[in-house]
Amino acid sequence: MDITIVPDAQAVAHVAAERIAEVIRSAPAAGAVIGVATGSSPLGTYGALAERVASGALDTANVTAFALDEYVGLDPAHPESYHSVIRRTVTEPLGLDPARVHVPDGAAADIDAACEDYERRIAEAGGVDLQLLGIGANGHIGFNEPTSSFASRTRMKTLAPQTRADNARFFDSADDVPMHCVTQGLGTILDARRLLLVAQGESKADAVAAMIEGPVASLCPASALQMHRRATVVIDRAAASKLRLTEYYEFVQAHRPGGAG
Ligand code: GLP
Repeated sequence: MDITIVPDAQAVAHVAAERIAEVIRSAPAAGAVIGVATGSSPLGTYGALAERVASGALDTANVTAFALDEYVGLDPAHPESYHSVIRRTVTEPLGLDPARVHVPDGAAADIDAACEDYERRIAEAGGVDLQLLGIGANGHIGFNEPTSSFASRTRMKTLAPQTRADNARFFDSADDVPMHCVTQGLGTILDARRLLLVAQGESKADAVAAMIEGPVASLCPASALQMHRRATVVIDRAAASKLRLTEYYEFVQAHRPGGAG
């Protein structure tokens, strides 16, 4: 795992945006396929990418995007549906073609068929070049809660009580947070050619430590990143505060073969 520890959230956004911009710039003519995440963690990264687009430093016309997850039982027009959140935080600020932005369908009459169709669409796009991830306080990625199978594909899940409580801030009341979701599986996420996880703040420190230094265990779904060949974690000092080998990671960071990477 490639671990980059930076001073603050602004630096996380800058480093992560640069990694994504490199993938977009180096993609073949058909364009890059980027996996996008909701939550507050990647918002700074989207902002830093939007600045590059606005200044003309980055062309996103050929970018295809796939979101990780969506609530079930929430109108896609609801402001907190991930359809709305992705449009507001990714599609519009990054100037993506809405026809090339995909979000799982949590309102389908046949959810299982919609999940299979989502997997098919990812495959037809040629797979995901880079998947951007945040991490939940309980170690979830996407909405893959603890004990999710490492082989799982896009499917319906029940949200953990902690996740519903964490996300209650986006709704009028805790009871309004949907009980179910559709999420790419850990197996789906691991199929991406690169993974890039961003985390800031002390509330993520335990989950980050379990992900990087704990055993590969379904109790911490993000520990699946240990099994990926090209997983990069960009975190600020607060999120890194419970790591045991911080000095070693900083040493490696300062002495990377051939510079960054
Ligand atoms: C959310 C999303 C995840 C996200 C995580 C952390 O519920 N489904 O994709 O990474 O929880 O959210 P935040 O970044 O707001 O802490």
